[in-house]
Amino acid sequence: NPPRMVEVFPTQADVMAAAADRFVNAASRAITARGRFAVALSGGSTPEALYRLLAADPHRGRVDWARAQVFWGDERCVPPDDPGSNYRMAREALLDRVPIPTAGIHRIRGEDAPEAAAQAYESILREQLGPRDGPPLPTAGLDLVLLGLGPDGHTASLFPGSESLQERLRWALAVEGPTPPRRRVTLTPPVFQAAGDLLFLVTGSEKNSALRRALHDSTGGLSLPTRVIRLPNTAVHWLADSGAAAGLPVGGAESA
Ligand code: 6PG
Repeated sequence: NPPRMVEVFPTQADVMAAAADRFVNAASRAITARGRFAVALSGGSTPEALYRLLAADPHRGRVDWARAQVFWGDERCVPPDDPGSNYRMAREALLDRVPIPTAGIHRIRGEDAPEAAAQAYESILREQLGPRDGPPLPTAGLDLVLLGLGPDGHTASLFPGSESLQERLRWALAVEGPTPPRRRVTLTPPVFQAAGDLLFLVTGSEKNSALRRALHDSTGGLSLPTRVIRLPNTAVHWLADSGAAAGLPVGGAESA
C-alpha cells in the first residue's frame, strides 16, 4: 500500500507552495500518461490562496490548461455568482486567469434543484471520465482531488455519520449539511476511492482536533468521511500547517 503521508509546514503559505507543486506535477504526469488532466477542486476558504498561486507565474505556465478537465468535489446550492459558490471562488481566483477552454470547466449547477443538479453532474462525470454505467474505474477516474477538512470532520460535503457515506452506486448526491448553506451537492465515496490522488489541505488551529481525529482515531471508523473516501490502495496526501498539526506525531504515516 502507498504510505499515507502527512507533511507539516511552518505556515499556510508553505502549504500552498507545496500544494501548487503537487498540482503541477500531477497535471504533467496525467497529461503524459493519458493526454488529459482531470482534477476536482475543493471549496471553502482554504484553497483560494492555492488557486491564486496557480494563476500566477511561475506555476501558470507549467500547466497545460488546454488539456485540463476541471470538476468540483462539492458545491453549495447557491447561484454561480453567489459569495458562497465554490465555482465562483475558483473562477475568480484561478479559471478566469488561465487559458482553460470553457469546455474544460464542469461546474455543479448550484442554482438548480439539488437532486437535479446532482444527476446532471453525475451524467457529465460519466460522459467525461466513463464508464456510462456502473462504478467509477480507477483507470479512468479523477487524477487529482483537492480536499479540505471542516472543524466538524466533514470533507467535500460528506458529513460525519451521514447516509451519503454509505453510497456505492451514485457518483453525486444532493445532501444537507448542519450549517448554512445547508443544501449541497457532493461527489460520493466511490468517486473519491477511484481517484489517482487525494490531496488534503488543512490549515489553522481551528482544524487541529479534526485533523487528529481524521489521522489517528481508530474508533471513528466508518462514520469519518476522511476514512470512508479511500480504499487501502488509494493514494492520500495530507499537507498541514503547524497550527493544524500541533501535537501530532510529525513526518509519520497516517494510522490505518
Ligand atoms: C465546502 C468544502 C468543504 C471545505 C471544508 C473546509 O464547500 O465547504 O468543499 O469540504 O473544504 O469545509 O472549509 P474551509 O477551507 O473554509 O475551512
